[in-house]
Amino acid sequence: MSEKLVLVLNGPNLNALGTREPEIYGSVTLDAIGHALDQRASVLQMTVENRQTNHEGVLVDWLHEAQARGAHAVLLNAGAYTHTSIALLDAIKAITVPVIEIHLSNPHAREAFRHTSWIASAAKGTIAGFGADSYLLALEAASRF
Ligand code: DQA
Repeated sequence: MSEKLVLVLNGPNLNALGTREPEIYGSVTLDAIGHALDQRASVLQMTVENRQTNHEGVLVDWLHEAQARGAHAVLLNAGAYTHTSIALLDAIKAITVPVIEIHLSNPHAREAFRHTSWIASAAKGTIAGFGADSYLLALEAASRF
């Protein structure tokens, strides 16, 4: 495959986007974000695979899969696992595929327990606070390396 493959991995509760705390996360659904990413990716000559799971170990498996498939990048919104998961930190460190950490909200402007990201130190970078645009900005960043 000549196009750059980007796995877009979404963690717990992100399947509820659109109805989940819209004052924080907006009213855009995860399907709509995936559609926007597909469209932008085709312009950038990239291929995205959009996925969501509520299970930590599945995210670990998908990070390993990104490595096995030679993905160009992973865009990861780990949801609340961002603030709890050393397994995700280790998985990111176990692969050479660059991982961009994404958040719709700005966790630093929220409760103190969201100020710690266990994955940030292993990520190539973090884009947070721009709502659904965080995903598109991350894809743009990935298209430049
Ligand atoms: C989130 C921020 C996390 O703190 C939260 O647990 C989420 C969503 C975001 O996209 O803003 O589930 O990752």
